[in-house]
Amino acid sequence: MARILLIILLVLVVVLALTGVGMWGYNQFRPITVSVNGAEQRVSANTSLGKLAADHDDFGAKPGKLLSVSGKVLKRDGGGPVRYTLNGKGIGDADAAKDAGAAGSAKSATTSNKGSAAYGTNAPIDLNKVKLPENAKITVKDGKNLTEQHDVRRTMVPFGVSVNGHGVIQKLVQRGKQGVKEVWIGKISGEQVDKGVVKEPKNVIVDTFSPKPVTHKVVALTFDDGPSQYSGPILDILKEKGVKATFFDVGNGAAAWPQFEQRMVAEGHQVASHSYSHPDMFKLNPDQLRDNITQGLANIKAASGVTTKMLRAPYGNFGPNQWLQTSDLIDYNVIWTVDTEDWKKPGAPAIANAALSKAYNGAVILMHDGGGDRSEDIAALPGIIDGLKGQGYEFVTIDQLMAMNGK
Ligand code: NI
Repeated sequence: MARILLIILLVLVVVLALTGVGMWGYNQFRPITVSVNGAEQRVSANTSLGKLAADHDDFGAKPGKLLSVSGKVLKRDGGGPVRYTLNGKGIGDADAAKDAGAAGSAKSATTSNKGSAAYGTNAPIDLNKVKLPENAKITVKDGKNLTEQHDVRRTMVPFGVSVNGHGVIQKLVQRGKQGVKEVWIGKISGEQVDKGVVKEPKNVIVDTFSPKPVTHKVVALTFDDGPSQYSGPILDILKEKGVKATFFDVGNGAAAWPQFEQRMVAEGHQVASHSYSHPDMFKLNPDQLRDNITQGLANIKAASGVTTKMLRAPYGNFGPNQWLQTSDLIDYNVIWTVDTEDWKKPGAPAIANAALSKAYNGAVILMHDGGGDRSEDIAALPGIIDGLKGQGYEFVTIDQLMAMNGK
């Protein structure tokens, strides 16, 4: 009896085992449907993408070519491999998809570029290990053409400048930026190919205008060449009269009289730069020009904590060439429209008369609080303020005047 039971048990085990092997076998070899470039194919379920590809000679698709930098074929099948996708996902050619474009700095230099050919280093996924699921959607395309490895010789393309319009304020609207030219030198072919300008330069663009306030009459009082010992009495008068002005300060003066620089800021006046040492900027070479502006701005910052990018060039001498050299340093160059000619020392009444007779809505009035004996300016200032108030003017800084343009 026990023996019969044992036999039945063994038979059952064998039947189950055979059934399992049979189901496994069916799963391995049952036919499934896949599509290749839209055409249906019947394959057995264990078929890999690699086998399918090999059986159909890549469905007519070819690897890409390896090209020289001038585009000549160096190796017919030396480019990227035939490209497969499975259910929308790329397989096997991820490395080959890299572009040939070389990123990097625009300095004049030669750099090595691997090119788009991951030549000999490409390690695509083994298609033989890619199983095909039921209803797999496969696409096949030719491989990409790749360019040989090459050195890239870069040279700068200088930018230009355009200063447009007329008026008292020059405002930078675009900084200059160098462009880049490239020559590619093929490492296999030895060819040199001029790729021309691969990055266009950006010109310096400056707009010139005169603010036109429309709601009420304003003037901007400006003082140049300080700070100096004359700045204190001028600040006293402005404070007493409740008037804000703009000081275009010389860097070495700001270093010598930081207390006045600080007082100007504390009392609500605008401070801007009048260079470091008051040179004629038309006569400076580019390095001297940049140094003088940089140091002037730095001294104002050191004395008062104010970061300004506004310049009034000494004598107003600042043209396209100067903008070309300094568009990364300053945003504004501001001149004047009413010259009191105080520098001629014509006497306080003449200075006051010049301001009062020449003022108009939006005028930028030039006076001085440094660079010589400014006692005539001190004597003239109360009368100028009172007189202009009497004519209905309000006093604004240059920043305020710009903000009122058309308002
Ligand atoms: Ni000056």
